[in-house]
This record gives sequence, structure tokens and C-alpha cells, in this order.
Amino acid sequence: MAEAGSGLRTVRVIQYLVDGKGVTLLDTLSDSFVRTARLDDVRAAGRISVRVAGHSLALFFHDGRVHAVDNRCPHMGFPLHRGTLQDGILTCHWHHARFDLESGGTFDQFADEARVFPVEIKDGEVWVDISSREDRPANLRQRLRDGLERNISLVVAKSAIGLLGSAEDPTEPFRTGLEFGAWYRRGGWGQGLTIHTCMMNLLPHLAREDRPRALYHGLSAVSRDSAGEPPRFSLRPLPTESVDLTTLKGWFRRFVEVRDPEGAERCIISALHAGADHTQMADMLFCAATDHRYLDGGHVLDFTNKAFEALDVAGWSHAGMVLSSLAEGYAGARRMEESNSWRNPVDLVKILEDAFEELPNVLEEGRNKRESWEGQEDLAAVLLGEDGGAIAGALLGALRDGATEEDLAGAVAYTAALRIARFPTTNEFGDWDTALHTFTFSNAVHQGLRRAPTPELLRGVFDAAMSVHLDRFLNVPPARVPEPVTSEKSTEALLAELPALLDERQKVDEAGESVASYLYSGGETDRLLAMIGGLLLREDRDFHTIQAVEAAFRQYAGLRGTTAGAHVLVAAARYLAAHSPTMRSQGQTYDIARRLSRGEILYEE
Ligand code: FES
Repeated sequence: MAEAGSGLRTVRVIQYLVDGKGVTLLDTLSDSFVRTARLDDVRAAGRISVRVAGHSLALFFHDGRVHAVDNRCPHMGFPLHRGTLQDGILTCHWHHARFDLESGGTFDQFADEARVFPVEIKDGEVWVDISSREDRPANLRQRLRDGLERNISLVVAKSAIGLLGSAEDPTEPFRTGLEFGAWYRRGGWGQGLTIHTCMMNLLPHLAREDRPRALYHGLSAVSRDSAGEPPRFSLRPLPTESVDLTTLKGWFRRFVEVRDPEGAERCIISALHAGADHTQMADMLFCAATDHRYLDGGHVLDFTNKAFEALDVAGWSHAGMVLSSLAEGYAGARRMEESNSWRNPVDLVKILEDAFEELPNVLEEGRNKRESWEGQEDLAAVLLGEDGGAIAGALLGALRDGATEEDLAGAVAYTAALRIARFPTTNEFGDWDTALHTFTFSNAVHQGLRRAPTPELLRGVFDAAMSVHLDRFLNVPPARVPEPVTSEKSTEALLAELPALLDERQKVDEAGESVASYLYSGGETDRLLAMIGGLLLREDRDFHTIQAVEAAFRQYAGLRGTTAGAHVLVAAARYLAAHSPTMRSQGQTYDIARRLSRGEILYEE
């Protein structure tokens, strides 16, 4: 039996399959068996490494038999012929992953299974069957689940690269992450699933080579969010066919009101069972999400919007598990009418409640003037002003003048982006998050109203406007928004300078200027979006920075080619620059996976 550490021997490259010497056919047992070494050599050395037909193999003589194993450790590529073999278990010397020599199966889930090859001995020669028997996509899908369950980033990264590399539609791995996150976290929908959905939304804007990286960031955020958490168990619908959706909606709002997540969840499941469609469910959920003011700093409504966006990708058949995962967040949310800043020195909640009473009338008055509203600039000036009462009045006035729900929401989301574009770096660093919360909430209300333009959700626009109002001290003094002038630099040079700016700390204004100059000089927008997205992925995951960039891309889609659109992207670049550079350690894990997928050698002496 070959003992651990017994004499190593390397047989030089044997290209028996290479043509030209007249030996190719004679040296094969069948199409896939290749001659690798002499039996006596393997027996004498205990183990040898050979390179044959593009494969690096480790041959072990153990218990009177020869075993052939892929010589690259499946974890990070360490040469396995240098490992220790004891009692049939092969241990890699780099991170000590252990493998059953016979099957290649690993005892350490951070490593993949080692690939083993069938061996036959003929006339004193060792023949190895190098044909591939792996069902690679199936194996990658299984490994993705393994990585999610055990929160192993490298395994998730390898799976994402492998699945997208084998031309698999990103929808399938996205669904896997969505299902996993929705069930394996008692608290339900959280930051992980929000990041996962943001990444899926960003994917089409990214350079092709960055897409698996985005998938990896989303999937591993889900995995980390669920790590160590108890799972969630599904509820059954009410045992009746007769309950109607209006009643269920009313019950749902009441259960949220009294902070009962279980009752609220059963209403969601029952409504779906009763056949509620996408719009009806959006109405029910967004309504409860705006029954109180700016729930949880906007997160409740933002998560709800993201859940619907996730279903747009994954399909409505996943609605039960996804929408029911929101109930816990609704019931437990902080309500801003209980906060000092919304009550004092001006009672903004009272102003809002008075305005809500007028909504049915102003909507009716404006109904015949729709499509003709052009008051965006005037409204923005009031929204950025000092008077909460005037803001509510201006919003009502705009509706009366024919602004649609979507018009109004878009105008408020733009002013929320301006708060970030004008955010001076003299503020406390944590205040970036305050401005960000208002922006992502405003964007979520805007997107939600496109699904369900209801008077109840319209209250969210007013909440968002009040939050923009409360953030006004974060623009004192305001940072200068870049002028719409053409740069002397080429657009190529402007684009190229962005990564270097984000390698340095706090190049906030410079990053904003660079983005604005690029756009005002006629640079291609798609290339800029791909660049900003790529720079986001280069950093370690930060929930708020991901939200900022994703919401900005979403808003920009409706403002493409306008000055307002440029302001939105300036805001995204400034937020990203304020939060760069990070340690970029998650990118390092991803780069290791990518190099391994290319067959690069990571271990070098
Ligand atoms: S355990 Fe083998 S390379 Fe890490």
C-alpha cells in the first residue's frame, strides 16, 4: 500500500492521443481510454502525476489497485498527487479538504467532488477512461444549493460562473436564490433578497463578463442573510372558497394594524388561493404599506416593490412563497407618525392626513386634464422648499391640474435624487443613508404606482415628498450640481477616469463631474451604465449603495437623454464614490472562482 508522503514521481507529458507518430490508434483501448503510465512505475512510486490528452491526472496505487483522480484539487487547484493518502482518504495539503479516493466524494463541502476516472490494466500498462460523464449543469445547480445552504461564497461564485458560462438563462439560478431566501429565513424578505433582485435588475445593463459577478453578489447576499436563521413554514389558505378579495384586503390591513404577522400572512395566501392576480395583490399589499407613514424608513414599501419585481422575473407561480415572506416586515415596522421628526416642530402627519382626505376630489377634478400636465419644474421647486404645507398643497394642485399618479411619483423621485446629487461631503457620513432611504422609497412608490395606480398608494408619494422635505438640511450648503457643458476631454478619457477616481477615498464631487461631463459631451449612455454597474460590483456588497445605483438606473430609464436623467446618474456616481473603495474581498473570492473556471493555476511555489 502506498503510504502518505512516499516518494513522488512525475511522468512527463504523454500525448498519446496526439497524432503524428503512428501510435494513436494502437494506444487506445476504446475511443476514450488512454494509456497513461506503466503499472510498475505507479506501484513503485505509490503515486505519480501524468498529463495526458489535456488532463492532469494523479495516479495512486492503493490496496493493490490503481486509482486515477483529476490532479487539480476541486477546491482551489492544489496538485492532489502531493496530498496524503490514508485508509482510502486523500487529504489535500492546501486547505485540508478530504476525498474518498474511490469515488472522489468530498467530506468537506467547501470543496467540490474530486473527479475520478475509470482505470483498466492491460499488458502491464495503466489505461484511463478520460471521457466526461458529468452532467455539468445539474451538478452546478446542486452545488449552488450546497453553497446557499452552507453560506460558502466560493461555491456560490463557481456555480454562478459555471451556470452562466454554460449559457444557462440567469432566471433559473435567480429562482433558486429566491426560493431559498423566501423559505430559509424566519423573518421573511430582507436585505438579501432585495440585493438579489437589484442584481437581477442590473444584469441587462452590465458588460457580459460582469453578469455572473452580479448573480454571485445577489446569491451570496441571500445565503448570508439566511445563515444561522430558522426556516419559515408555509401557511395553508382559509378552508373556504367563498371569501372575497375585498374582505381579505380589509382583514389584511386590520392584522397589519394590530401587528399580527400570522393573520396577515394567511390573508395573503388565501387571496392568492382565491385567484387574486398580480394587480389585485399589488393593491392589497401597497395599500397596507401606506396605511402608516413611511414604514421602517421606507423599507416595507421598497421590499414589497422588489418582491413584485422578483416575481416579474421568476413567474407568478412563485407568488405564494414570495409575497407571504413580506408579512413579518409589515407587522413589525416602525411607523413614522410615532417619530418626533414627523411630528415636531411641524406636525407633518396632520398635514398629510388632511391632504389624503382631499385626494378623491382632486383626482376627480384632474381626470379630464390628464396627459396635459407640464408642471414638473414648478413642482420640484416647491418640493425642495421649506414649507411642508405648501408641498402637500402643490401635490394636490398638480393632481387637480391633470398630473397622473405616475407623473407625481416621478417628480418626487427626481427631487429625492437631487438631494443626493447636492449632498455636501461636510455632512456626517451616516446621513448619506438618510438621503438614500428617501430616494429608494420614492422610486419604489413610483414603480408600485405603475403596477397599481390606487389612491391608497398615492399616499406614498406624499410621504416621499415629506421625507424629501425633512432631508432639506442635508443640502446645506448644497453641493454644486455639474453644469451641462461639453468637456474638453474625450468621452473615452472621461469614462476611463472613473475607476481611478473610485480607487481613491471621497472623490465624490469629481465622480459626479466626470459622469455629467461624459453625458453632456455625448458619451454613450449604455457604456456609462455598464461602467457604473461594473464599479459597483468591484466593491464589497453594501446594501444601500446597491439600492442607490439600482434605483438610479430605474429612474434614468424614464429620463434618458435629459438633464434630469444626468442628475440622477450624478447622484448614483456620487453615492458610489462616497462608499468606495472597500476592501474588495468579495471580489477576490469571485476572481479566484473565475480563474479556476479558466483552468488557471492558483497554487505556485
Ligand atoms: S483544499 Fe485543496 S486547494 Fe484547498
